[in-house]
Parts: sequence; structure tokens; C-alpha cells
Amino acid sequence: MNKVTLHRLEEMKKTGEKIVVITAYDASFSRVVNEAGVDVILIGDSLGNVMLGYDSTVPVTMADMQHHTRAVAKTNQHTLLISDMPYMAYATVEQTLLNAAHLMQAGAHMVKVEGGAWLAPSIRALTERGVPVCAHLGLTPQSVDALGGYKVQGREPEAASKMRFDAECLQEAGARMLVLECVPAALAQKISQDLSIPVIGIGAGIDTDGQVLVLQDMLGITPGKRPKFSHNFMAQAQGDIQAAVVAYVKAVREKQFPAAEHTFT
Ligand code: KIV
Repeated sequence: MNKVTLHRLEEMKKTGEKIVVITAYDASFSRVVNEAGVDVILIGDSLGNVMLGYDSTVPVTMADMQHHTRAVAKTNQHTLLISDMPYMAYATVEQTLLNAAHLMQAGAHMVKVEGGAWLAPSIRALTERGVPVCAHLGLTPQSVDALGGYKVQGREPEAASKMRFDAECLQEAGARMLVLECVPAALAQKISQDLSIPVIGIGAGIDTDGQVLVLQDMLGITPGKRPKFSHNFMAQAQGDIQAAVVAYVKAVREKQFPAAEHTFT
């Protein structure tokens, strides 16, 4: 399989071929999801919840992200690897450059940052230095306390306009990809049409350029209530992890996932 590049993902947006993204945090699952044919692995700071047992992503450190990025990169074959910059690792432009360098040196091909137009100077600085950036709008879990919980974002007209404005600013500053989390489907569709960069949704409806899920959620092994936007692909795979990931890849490519039941209005 050819290595997935940013150019390939941009081409997929143009041709309407859906992009499949999934999280992974270690060498074993990196191998499994590579073999299932996903395009992009996100080493998300959701590892704080999934791997480390925290109740938010706030305690995740740069050392955690470097450790898990290295593990995933070890067995990566063809996917593009995005690593999350953790809480407060990009509070200033200087910190952003230093910490992004650590993640790229651990094996990432791109770094992800959560937030709106205020990030433009940092994204510009990274872009000028050759570091590709994925932005993240909507429900940004590192700001869960400021947001007042894990809630759908952009339902009010003013908040929706602000999100569209932020998305344009981030693209203009050089972001090469955008994640939209927990956003009404109609707003996500507009933002995906507004931008020329690939837009990847999680709880953002079917009309984004691709989808991302947290691996443990879609395998049905996250304790507690499954988020509305996720789907247990293990249920149809009779306990075969590889088959569950293959089913997710197929469902996204064939526009069967997300369905109405996973979508916010
Ligand atoms: O950390 C993560 O896994 C993420 C996804 C939920 C998009 O940011």
C-alpha cells in the first residue's frame, strides 16, 4: 500500500472519496489499523482517558504524547500520523514550536491543536517551518471546564458564525486539516464546503470529508455509556478486532457511517 500523504488526502477531498481516521496509541493497534486500511492514525490526547484512566485530557503531558507517538510510529506502515499537542503545550508561539518539534521527532507527520483564530500566529510559525498542522474546532476537550461539559457546539447562530470564521482563519494561517467535534451536521457541511482543506468529523454528520473515531469506543470496550456519535463495530465482527476496524473503514468509505442516530442537529 502506498504511503498516505497530505497531497493524497487533499486529492480525496476533491474527488469526494471519504477519508478514514482512527485513534491508536500503541504498536499493536497501530499494526492492526494499518492492516485494516485506514488512511490516518490520530495519536489523540484521548489517551489520557483511554490508556491512562484520567477523567479528562487535561492531565496529559508532552512526555505521554511522545511515548505513545513513538510506539505507534514503530509499527506504522502507510498511514499519516497526527499527534495531539497536549494541554498548554501550545500556549505561546515559542512553546508551540519547541513541543511540535518533540512530536515530529517522535514520529508524527502532523500535529493537532485545539482552538480558534487565536492560534493563527502559532499555525503560521509552524507552517513556515515545514510542520503540517491539523486544527480542531467545536467541542475541544482540553477546554471542557470552560465549555461547561461535553456538549454540542455551534447550535446558536452567533456560535455557528464564529466557528465558520475561525475555520477560515485557521486555513488562512496554514492549517492543512481540520477536525470538527460534536457540531450540528448542517454547520459541519457548510464548513466542509467553505474550506479547501480536508475536514474530518466526529459527531459532525455524514457530509464532512472524512470521519474519526476513538478506537476503544468503536470496539465497544470503553466503560460507561458510549457517546451518541460513536458506533460499536465489534458487535458485527464476532470479537475479531481486525474485522471490526475493517467494517468501520468500509462503512465510512461507503457513506454508511455516521447514520442519523449518530448525528446532532
Ligand atoms: O484526542 C482525540 O482522540 C481527539 C479526537 C476525539 C478527535 O482529538
